[in-house]
Amino acid sequence: MAFKLKINGTDHSVDVDGDTPLLWVLRDVLGMTGTKFGCGMALCGACTVHIDGAPTRSCITQVDSVGVAAVTTIEAIGAMQLGARIQKAWLDHEVPQCGYCQSGQIMSATALLAGNKRPTDAEIDDAMSGNICRCGTYQRIRQAIKDAAQQNG
Ligand code: FES
Ligand code: FES
Repeated sequence: MAFKLKINGTDHSVDVDGDTPLLWVLRDVLGMTGTKFGCGMALCGACTVHIDGAPTRSCITQVDSVGVAAVTTIEAIGAMQLGARIQKAWLDHEVPQCGYCQSGQIMSATALLAGNKRPTDAEIDDAMSGNICRCGTYQRIRQAIKDAAQQNG
């Protein structure tokens, strides 16, 4: 079945079953491999994208549930001023180690700061708690988020 999706500001038409996870569509159909597969069960956050700005686990999001909502992936986050600032903070704090979880981390961090300009430590921990990093970059992630938040208007 054909579905129209708005991804990173561009319309795409994909021909897949309605219960296909959005993650599969992004990676396997559209070749947008920045969004990662980790657990496939909404437990790790590696697959996080934004749907109408909300951080969303694309591994459990059926393509037929997306409708006309705007999907944003890591490929486009740097085009947003806030996303670019967060990416710079990530580099300044040398956050990534193996890097596998980091696109999901950045998507969650961007959604956090878009809705909360100056989050407290507890709010950062709460917003990021669903993003698992097997390399243990959590302290650097917190510092990078605080750094980006300080430059938040
Ligand atoms: S792959 Fe989606 S939360 Fe782990
Ligand atoms: S940087 Fe390796 S899993 Fe997070």
